[in-house]
Amino acid sequence: MTAGTQDELKTKLRKKFSAHEVGEMCCLGRCHENAAFHVNGTNYSGTDIDSIDSICKKEYSTAEKYNVGNMGSPILTNTHAPFDDYYKIFVKVLQTDPLQCLAELKDSGLRGRGGAGFSLAFKLESCRNVEDDMKFIVCNADEGDPGAYSDRYVMEQRPHALLMGMMIAGYITGASVGVVYIRGEYPESVKIISDAIAKLHAHNFLGKNILGSNFNFDFKVIKAQGAYICGEETALLSSLEGQRPEVRVRPPYPTQKGLFNKPTVVNNVETLANLPFIMRNGGKAYSSIGTPKSTGTKLISLDGHFNKPGIYEADMGTPLRVIIDKLGGGFKHPVKAMHIGGPLGGLVPVSKIDDLTLDFDSFAKEGFLLGHASVVCIPEDYPLIDYLEHLFRFTAHESCGKCFPCRLGSTRGYEMIDKARTSDYKMDRELMDDLLETLETGSLCALGGGLPLPVKNALKYFDAELAPYFKK
Ligand SMILES: Cc1cc2nc3c(=O)[nH]c(=O)nc-3n(C[C@H](O)[C@H](O)[C@H](O)COP(=O)(O)O)c2cc1C
Ligand code: SF4
Repeated sequence: MTAGTQDELKTKLRKKFSAHEVGEMCCLGRCHENAAFHVNGTNYSGTDIDSIDSICKKEYSTAEKYNVGNMGSPILTNTHAPFDDYYKIFVKVLQTDPLQCLAELKDSGLRGRGGAGFSLAFKLESCRNVEDDMKFIVCNADEGDPGAYSDRYVMEQRPHALLMGMMIAGYITGASVGVVYIRGEYPESVKIISDAIAKLHAHNFLGKNILGSNFNFDFKVIKAQGAYICGEETALLSSLEGQRPEVRVRPPYPTQKGLFNKPTVVNNVETLANLPFIMRNGGKAYSSIGTPKSTGTKLISLDGHFNKPGIYEADMGTPLRVIIDKLGGGFKHPVKAMHIGGPLGGLVPVSKIDDLTLDFDSFAKEGFLLGHASVVCIPEDYPLIDYLEHLFRFTAHESCGKCFPCRLGSTRGYEMIDKARTSDYKMDRELMDDLLETLETGSLCALGGGLPLPVKNALKYFDAELAPYFKK
């Protein structure tokens, strides 16, 4: 949307297809080159649209390209050992006491990469402590944040880091089933992960009594069906059970009563993919990278507004300026803000770049959110009021409807902004502030609860641009 490629893309598609054949999909994970579309099970982007005739004749293969780079002590973007050598880590884990593995994880200080930054060791320990003969490790590969494609990178380029990570989590907790819940918009990831699981079967790394260790583990891959809210962990569990993806009230937490009411760990792709490194090198080696409270490295997704869009890995604590200029090669054209960490993340004005480092605390201290570290740029000439309207509309569309602050509030916000944008109606600032407070404090989950953050950032840093839409 902020790249401005949608209208031209749709016009070109409508020349080839009838109006009822052209629909809408959410993020295909192609923000590095934009103009993304999906035909007959395959994703395309960039200049692919100009080959639409060949695409329809199945005579064209997409040549998607994005940069991959790193600085510091890379873990996920460096070259991994060949399959047999790499799985020596898992063989060693099977010979180690699960409590010792858990201790390494505690030493690592690894925090969840999917948004909230919750301790992985704490989650695994609480699942381990619940007695049950059936437990699940669920990988949240829904990667719904527009602008994010780092989980896609891990699944397609480092599938075994993720799968081994889930197997290790199963070994620590006593879970025997791993469910990989992959967004349906990533057909390539579904295929690569399924093929990688088949390879594990062929090498006897899955099934019952793996390598004589008494440990049982197997996978199931689920193709999600295109709802952002399904990335929220409890909505995801409802979706897996075949129910409406409605958010659940916590407690009980998934580690106590999760999938089919069984103890369940839900973690992000990137979080789990760090486990092999920790098991091979030890928790302290991991925590020596990054900052004391944000250990390890973080993957960052840079969009097509950068000179070098792509997936980059940097140590936690790296200055944001270095990531933008050194890794991303700077902005292609003037940009006024970056939406970092998905639609519920903060709107960072370029004037704040030098105050931020890539870690949970720095972002929180400055009133933003690191989240999954996806970066969507807002060009200088892109009207912020349009962007805010889109955020409310997106939330209204995705709201699961369980709690009224989000169900009603997102729609009221959208209506209010749309009216101010398209007529001489002026918004009441006090009413907007009340709405944001209600959403923030009254919503059951972080969809309604998180929407106010970017809106407040916009109102604070872009007051002059937004003032004409409010009563004096
Ligand atoms: C609306 C919404 C969407 C979310 N989408 C995702 C997602 O696509 N991927 C993800 O890993 N976490 C997502 N989360 C966060 C998950 O609820 C959960 O915190 C995460 O899977 C935990 O894993 P982690 O500790 O490894 O980060 C979302 C949360 C909300 C409120
Ligand atoms: S905040 Fe929105 S998405 Fe979350 S539980 Fe409430 S209605 Fe559902």
